[in-house]
Amino acid sequence: MKKIIIDCDTGIDDALALLYALKRKDVRIMAITSTFGNCSALQSAINSLKMIELANPGYFIPVYVGSEYTYDGKKTPYSTFVHGDNGIGDVLLPQPQNEPQQNAVDALIDIIKENPYEITIVALGRLTNIALALDKAPEIVHLVKQLVFMGGTIYHCGNVGPLSEANIAGDAISSKIVLEAGFNAIQVGLDITQSTLLTRNDLDYLLKNARSENKAIANYINQSMVKYFQFNHEASNMIDCCPLHDPLAMLIALNPQLASISYYPCTVETNPESICYGMLVADTRENPIQVNPIGLALRCDKRKAVDLLISIFC
Ligand code: BDR
Ligand code: CA
Repeated sequence: MKKIIIDCDTGIDDALALLYALKRKDVRIMAITSTFGNCSALQSAINSLKMIELANPGYFIPVYVGSEYTYDGKKTPYSTFVHGDNGIGDVLLPQPQNEPQQNAVDALIDIIKENPYEITIVALGRLTNIALALDKAPEIVHLVKQLVFMGGTIYHCGNVGPLSEANIAGDAISSKIVLEAGFNAIQVGLDITQSTLLTRNDLDYLLKNARSENKAIANYINQSMVKYFQFNHEASNMIDCCPLHDPLAMLIALNPQLASISYYPCTVETNPESICYGMLVADTRENPIQVNPIGLALRCDKRKAVDLLISIFC
């Protein structure tokens, strides 16, 4: 059984990643910790609880509220224009029966320490909670089995700056702390997520073929994608499709054979005056800077990834 903690800002694509993990019988989600980004950390936690109750995994998963602020104490605007006012495309789901708990940072530390070398953290939002956990308990870096994070871009252009991606740039200081800490880390960024596409045909297939216990999930996914398709049409001229950012990170975390990984020392630009602010910098030189190498998932089997995602519900 693979033990994971999912740290996310539950927006439309985070929710899809959660639903995939919730349906994997060989995966135990030890906790979901929330962060700000697509919505507030509290809203993210509520959305995660809604996904748990929609998927009905058959075991209890605690959901903890995390930081509402960047590492240096700033409140940043939520991506409502992408994910809707409630983070999940303004789709209305029943209020969850369980409640979110405090506090994500302590929960991360406790669960990692109780399960040494066993926990994979799948981080789908800002890395704030993990940076704060490192401040309190730096030893966790060696107790985590793997950190797989969605964020950054190496060759593709950025989505919030010329070279910056939303999760890394959304709290650049936390990103730098976490990426340089020494985790066994795998990066899944825009180089592959932006071109891993969920299409109208995939959704129609899902609606038609979802197993009876997953019909409500299929309907929810279909409804939430209305907003996401619309945003991606306006922003990137995509027609009847959207990129799979967080779902691809989750798919690679749980199916590592999907991607080929190249290791490079990485850091993050934190100079607020720089046009490259929030850029994930991979040093590919022969004599690179002396920081922790990160595994960059620069190639992956995109069609296989989408098929794996859809087929878990069918
Ligand atoms: C990332 O930003 C968020 O909007 C998505 O959920 C994803 O984690 C993509 O840049
Ligand atoms: Ca996210």
